[in-house]
Amino acid sequence: MSKKILVLPGDGIGPEITAQAVKVLEVLKRECELDVTLEEGHVGGAAIDAEGTPLSDETLARAQAADAVLLGAVGGPRWDDLPMEERPEKGLLRLRAGLGLFANLRPALLYPQLASASTLRPEVVAGLDLMIVRELTGGIYFGEPRGVRTLENGERQGYNTLVYSESEIRRIGRVAFETARRRGKRLCSVDKANVLECTRLWREVMDELAGDYPDVELTHMYVDNAAMQLVRAPKQFDVIVTTNMFGDILSDEAAMLTGSIGMLPSAALNERGQGMYEPIHGSAPDIAGQDKANPLATILSVAMMLRHSLGEPELAEKIEQAVSDVLDEGLRTADIHTEGTRLVGTEEMGDAVVAAFIRRLWNTEDVKDPGHCRHAGLSNEID
Ligand code: NAD
Ligand code: IPM
Ligand code: MN
Repeated sequence: MSKKILVLPGDGIGPEITAQAVKVLEVLKRECELDVTLEEGHVGGAAIDAEGTPLSDETLARAQAADAVLLGAVGGPRWDDLPMEERPEKGLLRLRAGLGLFANLRPALLYPQLASASTLRPEVVAGLDLMIVRELTGGIYFGEPRGVRTLENGERQGYNTLVYSESEIRRIGRVAFETARRRGKRLCSVDKANVLECTRLWREVMDELAGDYPDVELTHMYVDNAAMQLVRAPKQFDVIVTTNMFGDILSDEAAMLTGSIGMLPSAALNERGQGMYEPIHGSAPDIAGQDKANPLATILSVAMMLRHSLGEPELAEKIEQAVSDVLDEGLRTADIHTEGTRLVGTEEMGDAVVAAFIRRLWNTEDVKDPGHCRHAGLSNEID
């Protein structure tokens, strides 16, 4: 049966970058006969403008009925003065909560070609390959009570609640241990257990879980130190597991190790294997509509979709190889541009990845399962 993918481009650079990722999905449909149906919908500011709300019930229902969601980005200065409940970001948060996407995988992988694009010294980041497992539907993002109240003395007071139940910690912990088991078998749990009771419980539950994973080495680190260690010696990490807010912050930091925030994809998964895939960056209003945005994080998010929701790990690998090929060719968007490489725009980068992907698909030596790609005639064009 055909699998349904809901594409939600969103705001700012969202439409430009998702358009490039959709080109890759179209190649998968056309050349690989991947049986997927693409649908489109509104989220964020675009949904506020079109439907009066950052995520309509109808779009949420369509997302729930889809096998996977591809999201660009939400938010922008036009909607910044709206009340919290009506902001574009609420659309994204509602999607995460409504689909139960508690497990957020944010891989920070340095393509060797970009070692000199990072603001850190090449020898610090060369070979970097770490995975941040961020809890995504709990913690201070969703905790109650929350709000701004006026005290008796007339002063306003803002408050939010950091709250995690044992079961929420245990289920994200299991995802992290399983992830570490498939990788370098080292898991670092990041918390603030020296100050916050909630994350002290987090640490205890992680310790309890460790008994079920004797092959994985569990360590703990306070978040302030983790932020420092990430730029001091990032290669000490294999898998990091942390709370919603710490994961948000540390993944932006980790993105810079890979050269640019425009390189970091993500997968948000629920217990049923459904997933939402998005670059970790935002809508970048400062460069929106200028053909300057890096589409690679979004294209790499399609690779994560193939791996985690569509059961096509080999095709995922080919997309990642295609990204690497394009970097080998010396193509760079502005955020990763360095001397001696060729500056290209969003569109050209997307087209180059598509061309490289098709080359990878039709290199028969590389295709482990030629049944994946049955389209006749194209191999002649390439040869
Ligand atoms: P941002 O990630 O949008 O931008 C930060 C900086 O990184 C900017 O200088 C931007 O130009 C650059 N950048 C981001 N993505 C890039 C790309 N693909 N290629 C090249 N450069 C890129 O963060 P911000 O400026 O703090 O937030 C802008 C808006 O995006 C806000 O409304 C925020 O709430 C929203 N936001 C949305 C998401 C999301 O949809 N998942 C994530 C983060 C921020
Ligand atoms: C992200 C973003 C979101 C978050 C915002 C836009 C709600 O920063 O996906 O990292 O904080 O989770
Ligand atoms: Mn973020």
